Amino acid sequence: MLEIKNLTVQVGCREILRDLSLNIERGEVHVLFGPNGCGKTTLLMTLLGFPNYKVTRGSVRLKGVEITTLPTNERVRLGLGMSFQHPPEIRGVKLGEMVNIALGRKEGEIDSEVVGLARRLNISVAFLNRDVNLGFSGGEVKRSEILQLLAQSPDFIMFDEPDSGVDIENIELIGEVMRELLDRNKMPSRREKAGLIITHSGSIMRHLNADRAHVMLDGRIACSGMPDEITRNVMANGFERCVELCKTGRENKEGLE
Ligand SMILES: Nc1ncnc2c1ncn2[C@@H]1O[C@H](COP(=O)(O)OP(=O)(O)O)[C@@H](O)[C@H]1O
Ligand SMILES: [Mg+2]
Repeated sequence: MLEIKNLTVQVGCREILRDLSLNIERGEVHVLFGPNGCGKTTLLMTLLGFPNYKVTRGSVRLKGVEITTLPTNERVRLGLGMSFQHPPEIRGVKLGEMVNIALGRKEGEIDSEVVGLARRLNISVAFLNRDVNLGFSGGEVKRSEILQLLAQSPDFIMFDEPDSGVDIENIELIGEVMRELLDRNKMPSRREKAGLIITHSGSIMRHLNADRAHVMLDGRIACSGMPDEITRNVMANGFERCVELCKTGRENKEGLE
């Protein structure tokens, strides 16, 4: 589904991602950990094609199509979707109107299907009538992002800290909807969707039963493994030590072989 090869990215005159490679197959969900500022959001913004993120080397293929030169709208049409860590406020555009358009409905009156989707995320009609992200609380922003994804139903979904600032009850709600968006309720062989999730907490991962986890350090994937193992290792030892242990583990294994 997604194949990133030797990706190097500059923001302004600084190199943020270096020689990063990552493969995510159809039906898989991967988790990305890493300390603040290591480049996680930069990776997602680059994949979506924001112009400030300059690809200086490498390639990205989505469903076999090279996307690094495509504008964002074409990437989205191809099936890419994202829930932002810090989405912008959009004055004068109501959330309900935006979701109407994402569902392919006419502008204007909010569609009953939009109201139905919103209800699943505990979002009221009054809330749908508010300007996008204007004065939304942290948790409301996250639920509004997930609502837009429900309407778009993308094939490859990137979630940038979908759980940060969300209360316990709403984490349950968001986790359930993410499960559905990523086909995690289906048998593995029937899963069509795939995704990449950035998170700092284990709570959302309990819902998703992810296939693989990675630790990013300084713009590179420094360690990969099974999500449970990596989570335990990061929680117990911190990011840098986790990566060291990951490397020595690999060396030991290689030594045995
Ligand atoms: N527009 C920008 N201009 C300059 N530096 C940026 C810009 N966007 C991100 N950065 C820098 O790139 C680094 C990686 O940021 P980011 O990808 O947001 O990290 P993360 O999501 O892992 O916390 C940080 O040092 C950040 O300050
Ligand atoms: Mg970030």
